[in-house]
Amino acid sequence: MSNNREQWSSKASFILAAAGSAVGLGNIWKFPYIAGENGGAAFLFIYLICIILVGLPILNIEILLGRATQKNPVGAFKTLTDKPFWKYVGALGVFASFTILSFYSIVGGWSVAYTLEALKGTFSSFGTPQIAADFFNLKNSNPMWVIGYHTAFFLLIVGIILSGVRQGLEKASKFLMPLLFGILMILVVQGLMLPGADRGISFLFNPDWSKINPQTFLLALGHAFFTLSLGMGAMMTYGSYLSEKDDVVNASYMVAFLDTVIAILAGVAIFTVVFSSGYDPTAGPGLVFHVLPPLLAQLSGGYIFALLFFLLLTIAAVTSAISILEVSVAYLVDELNYSRKKATLTMGILVYCAAIPCALSFNVWSDVTLLGTGLTFFDMADFLASNVLLPLGGFFLAIFAGYVWGIDEVVRNLLIGDSGSVYFGNSILRKSLSFKSIFGFLIRYLSPILIFLVFLYQFGWI
Ligand code: PHE
Repeated sequence: MSNNREQWSSKASFILAAAGSAVGLGNIWKFPYIAGENGGAAFLFIYLICIILVGLPILNIEILLGRATQKNPVGAFKTLTDKPFWKYVGALGVFASFTILSFYSIVGGWSVAYTLEALKGTFSSFGTPQIAADFFNLKNSNPMWVIGYHTAFFLLIVGIILSGVRQGLEKASKFLMPLLFGILMILVVQGLMLPGADRGISFLFNPDWSKINPQTFLLALGHAFFTLSLGMGAMMTYGSYLSEKDDVVNASYMVAFLDTVIAILAGVAIFTVVFSSGYDPTAGPGLVFHVLPPLLAQLSGGYIFALLFFLLLTIAAVTSAISILEVSVAYLVDELNYSRKKATLTMGILVYCAAIPCALSFNVWSDVTLLGTGLTFFDMADFLASNVLLPLGGFFLAIFAGYVWGIDEVVRNLLIGDSGSVYFGNSILRKSLSFKSIFGFLIRYLSPILIFLVFLYQFGWI
């Protein structure tokens, strides 16, 4: 079974695929609106700290666990320990893949729909964001519209996964990631050329420290997990297709670096347009669907910019969604000996159905809220994933690596495949005692404690 497990054709392919997983709606849809609502640069600063101190070490651990065991999250824990508890931590990842994909593919569906609307030139007739918001709400009030585009999005990702690791996941990222980067650069350049673009830039880079409060940390940490695809085994599963000779530390740096740069560039592309038109960056989740379409369409060459923007969003969503579904598919293939085809179709259908309540949250079930939280299915899935399941998964990963597998074993494994290249974090640094002690400190103490504090705060216990 695991002898004929597919592998990436090179480390570069893995980096592209893992960056494809990391760069998603989190970077282009979520990051700009969360930053917009939380003071721009002040949020960016806290977010970067979370990425460096918590995200990066856990990213290393996840990829490493995958590479060392060549297994999905459940199988990975089973391989390394006999304690049944850890199997359930792996299973939590499979559950999280359901939860995330159920709201992710709804937003993915909106992106596909908006790409087609942009193609039709719909946005040029929207005078103001209010008209765009009404259009968005009207469309969403039709369950068939939401479910229809969710279906289209799902067919895309199932099609890619069915084709396998090299022919599907790898080929898709090799083609789509450079395209994504090219489109983003075009949008950044056009944004920077707009009159008043500097106000957008200063919003993103001049911190207003008064905006920082415990809530900012909560959001920044949750988002660091979400954006790096951590805490549910996506990176572990992608890591399980790596060969022993591939360097995990350098790959992790590259993935985190690309993800962060792309989020910042997306922020530049969006805030320059928003500020130069005199609009408010605090529009929330509707920022890219309400505010942006009319503003983009009004620029000269706006037809093409609007089209490029929604194409960018769709590409980002597709390359991430495949990594989310791949977790459950790998689980069925490794643990229950399913063929890839059977596993993809089984999980595809199950997750597709799990997403329907989220699709209905905007229309027939808009009044249905869960457990007295006031959250609809859609909001609940988003909240549960980013604020509970991913940080919880990250917490257990850190505990596992720091105390069960042990830092010695972690560092010994990290050094396998060490290419000794000249990146920051090269082999000399890595072999040194300080690397081990810093890494050990971050994994054993800082990450779990920070995550724990955030949990206490979130549930109002501190
Ligand atoms: N990282 C993806 C994004 O930013 C989302 C994601 C979360 C993907 C968890 C895989 C696992 O959109």
